[in-house]
Amino acid sequence: MSSIISLVQRVRTMQNPVEAKPLPDSKPIKFGILGAAAIAPSALIDPAKSHPEAVVYAVAARSHDRAAAFAKKHNIEKVFGGPNGYQELIDSPEIDAIYNPLPNGLHYEWTMKALAAGKHVLLEKPAANTAEETRKMFELADHKGLVLLEAFHYRFHPVANRVKAIIESGELGPVKSTKTSLAIPRGIMKPDDIRFNYSIGGGALMDMGCYTINAMRYFAGVEPTSVLSVEHDLDSPQVDRKTVAKFALPGNITSTIFCDLAMPPALKIIPQLPDINATIECEKGRIQIMNYVMPTAYHSITVTPTGKKSRVEKAYTFPDLGEPWWSSYRYQLEAFINKVKGRPPHVWVTKEDSIKNMEVIESVYAKSGLGSRPKSEYVPPSSE
Ligand SMILES: *[C@@H]1O[C@H](CO)[C@@H](O)[C@H](O)[C@H]1NC(C)=O
Ligand SMILES: *[C@@H]1O[C@H](CO)[C@@H](O)[C@H](O)[C@H]1NC(C)=O
Ligand SMILES: *[C@@H]1O[C@H](CO)[C@@H](O)[C@H](O)[C@H]1NC(C)=O
Repeated sequence: MSSIISLVQRVRTMQNPVEAKPLPDSKPIKFGILGAAAIAPSALIDPAKSHPEAVVYAVAARSHDRAAAFAKKHNIEKVFGGPNGYQELIDSPEIDAIYNPLPNGLHYEWTMKALAAGKHVLLEKPAANTAEETRKMFELADHKGLVLLEAFHYRFHPVANRVKAIIESGELGPVKSTKTSLAIPRGIMKPDDIRFNYSIGGGALMDMGCYTINAMRYFAGVEPTSVLSVEHDLDSPQVDRKTVAKFALPGNITSTIFCDLAMPPALKIIPQLPDINATIECEKGRIQIMNYVMPTAYHSITVTPTGKKSRVEKAYTFPDLGEPWWSSYRYQLEAFINKVKGRPPHVWVTKEDSIKNMEVIESVYAKSGLGSRPKSEYVPPSSE
């Protein structure tokens, strides 16, 4: 019972945090959001409220009315609408950083444009439709001396870091296999959700598989050498609703990923529970994580050394950072702002990590025959 009360308190405070006062000696980083995206409140708007150096200043949408309604609802000062809205927001001298939660197929174009305009970018995952585009974005960010981060928020939360520390401690010996899942029941994503649209970068492997692949690579600590097998269920000819892939990794490690945007009910009638679990089998034991992706509401880390009793760990805060109600996005914002301010972040997801993740996604699509999602038609001006 008390754990349910604390769960409710964490979720409530996460959504309505005590608003932080600006710091007298640090100018806040002003964000502009591209698109009135449903993810923006949890990913940036709510986290920014409790960060003394983050302000969500502007939003742009193709429809001015939509942008205005979103701005009103979320108390955002500035609205950009109409066909030039995105570019006007990017060009606004008031803005320091862009949050790009546009459909995957638009990530490359608008991130390149934002970087060209001198803005830091917090970019939703997966970084783009291809690894090549991902490389180009990071090269431009480096060239311009700007911060670009692919928003793998779970990596900034204490849970992923605690699990990594257990693995690295050697307590359980070397990793032998991993299984990372992210699957939700049918009905949460509407059939016309953009995640099912090939032309703008749809597919379960893109939207959810990107987490399972990232977590596989992070926990295994080595990169896959080959895709052993892929099974999928299709939503439409080029779009996977579900993907299961197996990989070979150095050190005789085998890994499985499972993602599904719309799990059908068991026996056609019993709705399935979300599967957000990860299991890491080591030579001398096993780690099971329940909810490694959004751990703030609830999670567990079950550590079972072979032949011994299990222990269950929780990790809501770092010893020197965070509050139990900080979401993974709030931890991510902490790191992003620190990086922009030239201070060391507690965790970072590097350029190499983001490029590699996209390469692995593309290798699975190559193996399955579905092929990479379409390249952007945007051609940046050659001076960049
Ligand atoms: C997919 O997205 C494109 C670009 O927004 C749109 O033109 C097309 O109608 C969409 N297709 C489906 C099946 O919704
Ligand atoms: C590789 O791993 C498999 C499965 O865990 C095991 O059966 C096999 O003996 C291992 N091979 C080597 C060379 O360690
Ligand atoms: C996820 O892990 C929890 C705790 O270990 C377990 O109770 C649950 O059955 C697992 N879910 C799936 C789908 O494997």
